[in-house]
Amino acid sequence: MRIEQIEIKNYRVFRDVRLTKLPPMTVVIGANGTGKSTLFDVFSFLKDALAGNAASAVARRGGFRELVSRGRRGPIGITIKFRESSGRLASYILEIGTDGRRAVVEREVLRYRRGQGSGRPWHFVDFSRGRGTAITNESIYGEAGAVEQREEFELDDPGILAIKGLGQFRGFRVVSDFRNLVENWYISNFHIADARPSAEAGYAEHLSTRGDNVAQVAQYLYENHRKSFERVLKTMRARVPGVMDVQAKSMEDGRLVLRFQDGSFKDPFVTRYVSDGTIKMFAYLVLLHDPKPHPLLAVEEPENQLYPSLLSELIEEFRDYARRGGQAFVSTHSPDFLSGAKLGEIYWLQKVDGFSVVRRGSDSQLLRDLVEEGDLPGALWKQRLFEGADPQ
Ligand SMILES: Nc1ncnc2c1ncn2[C@@H]1O[C@H](COP(=O)(O)OP(=O)(O)OP(=O)(O)O)[C@@H](O)[C@H]1O
Ligand SMILES: [Mg+2]
Repeated sequence: MRIEQIEIKNYRVFRDVRLTKLPPMTVVIGANGTGKSTLFDVFSFLKDALAGNAASAVARRGGFRELVSRGRRGPIGITIKFRESSGRLASYILEIGTDGRRAVVEREVLRYRRGQGSGRPWHFVDFSRGRGTAITNESIYGEAGAVEQREEFELDDPGILAIKGLGQFRGFRVVSDFRNLVENWYISNFHIADARPSAEAGYAEHLSTRGDNVAQVAQYLYENHRKSFERVLKTMRARVPGVMDVQAKSMEDGRLVLRFQDGSFKDPFVTRYVSDGTIKMFAYLVLLHDPKPHPLLAVEEPENQLYPSLLSELIEEFRDYARRGGQAFVSTHSPDFLSGAKLGEIYWLQKVDGFSVVRRGSDSQLLRDLVEEGDLPGALWKQRLFEGADPQ
């Protein structure tokens, strides 16, 4: 499944934006306060709303009045258009309003465009404030002459998403597929300080969003996916002077520590004493070489702490990750990082009268011509040729 389009309405700085033709890897740039973090928060919002409900997701963000675009009453709207594995285009539409006390799901629709023919799309799920209908014969969807059968359902709470409330029913494959997709989104919240201490010994296949289980995942890779681990190590050696080897070692007290071996010394350094950039590079490599990529990966400003010339390789690793099926969204303030992006992968945000608009690199004829002549996107950005992307 891949997201092709995102529409956001009345969500903070996004009064009405649409990101179209999204490629497997999207790079977002824009001045401070133009909405890069807010865009990623939209992903987190959906995840939170699914894990809990709309009311708790809104409350975590300061309440409805704080979250809705200033001067607007709502509803807050998020539409995700994605291509399902069988190639069909589907839309998930979520509108959040308020009943005066708490946030409720004003409307929730999961629909597929009908295959051939001009019939209206199948609404697999169509709910409002906890009541609605869902298709009960989705398995015959797409068959010639298939006629949809619907049933009415009522959820326990008007803030619960139907894709959660219905997910447990057998037979709603489309619904549970979409729910699994959102549940497995990875929105990075990496903190070097969390990655430093030794971890409780344990088992983890995927890096946590804060990065605090990097030692466990390194051990998992070492033991179960030796090739991926070797690739991570080889890359570390090439990128961080002195690093020869990295090992996850179990201590007597049952804790697990990462040890970085510098070729010049006999004893390795534990994570506490290696540099910020070393830990960060290692954690990113562990994340990006994950044998089972997340369906969506969002990382903010990966360039921090890293040496500029390494960024053109790092962006290639994000792209590879996306190619392996994990769609990636990355924000950056780094021209070096941006230079590794293609114009079609670059989206920039510009604030106009308090609200942001989105533009796409490949929509600019000028940028296309200059890149064609050999200019790098990062250099063009520094020359202020991404019109409106700069603070002034
Ligand atoms: N309800 C709202 N209505 C309109 N604007 C809002 C609302 N809530 C927050 N904002 C604005 O949205 C912006 C949030 O920006 P965000 O943190 O997403 O920017 P950013 O692009 O990540 O910036 P940086 O590069 O500094 O990290 C701020 O300018 C803030 O004032
Ligand atoms: Mg930000």
